Amino acid sequence: MTDVGIDAIEIWTGKLRLDLPGTLAPAKGEDPEKYTKGLGLFASSLPDTYEDIVTMGANAAHRLMEREDVVPADIGRIDVATESAFDNSKPVSTYIAGCLEQIYDGDFRHANKGERKFACVSGTQAIDDAYNWIRAGRHRGRSALVIATDTALYERGDAGEATQGGGAIAMLIAENPKLMTLSQAQGFGSMDETDFLKPNQQFPSVDGKRSIQVYLARMREAIEDFEGQNGEMHPEDYAHIPFHTPFPGMVRKAAALGYRRLIRDTDVEEALANKIGPQPRPEAFADTEEYREALSEYTEALTSTDRYTTWYEEVIEPTLWISREVGNWYTGSVHVARASALLDGAANGRDLTDARFLVASYGSGAQAEIHEEAVQPGWKREIQKLPIEDHLERRSDIDFEEYELVHDAHNHDVDTGTDLRTFSVPEHEFVFDGWGPMNERQYRFVT
Ligand code: HMG
Repeated sequence: MTDVGIDAIEIWTGKLRLDLPGTLAPAKGEDPEKYTKGLGLFASSLPDTYEDIVTMGANAAHRLMEREDVVPADIGRIDVATESAFDNSKPVSTYIAGCLEQIYDGDFRHANKGERKFACVSGTQAIDDAYNWIRAGRHRGRSALVIATDTALYERGDAGEATQGGGAIAMLIAENPKLMTLSQAQGFGSMDETDFLKPNQQFPSVDGKRSIQVYLARMREAIEDFEGQNGEMHPEDYAHIPFHTPFPGMVRKAAALGYRRLIRDTDVEEALANKIGPQPRPEAFADTEEYREALSEYTEALTSTDRYTTWYEEVIEPTLWISREVGNWYTGSVHVARASALLDGAANGRDLTDARFLVASYGSGAQAEIHEEAVQPGWKREIQKLPIEDHLERRSDIDFEEYELVHDAHNHDVDTGTDLRTFSVPEHEFVFDGWGPMNERQYRFVT
């Protein structure tokens, strides 16, 4: 059977940069170390006033298509994952296709277009759909474009403001991919939860502390479900584990849980037992509370072992460096983490060919999904085409007052007029160009 997976990746970060410890923390009267040490964040990428989910998605897709020499006729599907859609009927993929059609000779008339929500799980579901579509032989030799794009803003003053971000990631899903192939096995942890939601409102209602517990509970279930199909796992099976990363501190918690699960009944658990004892097993405890307490003590001891910290540095840390600089992108988050690991591997001369990644997606509401991916021989050349440093460096820094203006400009309930101040200069990219007669958002390409 032909291999199918991720052939190429492009990232578009919102063009503004808000320094979190240097600008946001003092303005909110907070300790900068809450950001750098607690949450693990240094900056948020935010969209300039002429950017939105459509411009960022279209700009990422355009760059990807140019770089890979792809034209509209080569694309048979455009799926957009977003939690920031502004239209309850017309999918964002049609807006993005419309943008791209302004500058290409051909069109996407015969491409299947859709839209999904569920944070980065929805990006993963769009990849799954593309995978199934190609495997089923319904693609007529064409590839799929999966775009995850979000403006992850919170109400001003909400605790979530610390974890904001905005950007898009475009991925080409194709036969014989240059980057990653996907496993058949998948694990799910999925429950009806109300810890983070946007019921017909722009900014989320969020119970931040509970959202962390829900993330961990669903992730544990997904790992268990995956292990049930795939058999016992070992920490050395995986070169990297990209997680949904609302902020790196969340991954610190998820990785501890994942590692504990990975070492269970392995030589690693045995080797560590002299120092920290064996893992607590539920059958040894009279009640769940006691078991949980013992598990939490064991996890704390585990994460302070050299073995764990070395593993974390090698397997997890390389997935986090872009997130530290851009914040949460909801639907793009795990996909950015995967790209971070590949970029880090290429920059540090690692041989990742045939290495396996365990990819852990998550969306509030809530669902976690786990699957494996295998790195393909062409990965290094391909990922080195993504000029991530340029994208991060070209952002314009904004001060706190400017941040307030930008937040207001993106707030649907604040009338900031049409003559908006901008903080960067658009160049060779799509920009928002005002509203049309049916209240549709309109776009143009700036050369
Ligand atoms: P908060 O009240 O701003 O921060 O809420 P905190 O006081 O809990 O501090 C955060 C961490 O920094 C803590 O670490 C503190 O101890 C530490 P922890 O104890 O948790 O390990 N800290 C410090 N460390 C060193 N020096 C200091 C210091 N001060 C504090 N001086 C929260 C943080 C994340 C809850 C908030 O920002 C929030 O509500 N964010 C939005 C919700 C969120 O991101 N949830 C994550 C899980 S749900 C998810 O990932 C899905 C999501 O992407 C949505 C979707 O995809 O659909 C959000």
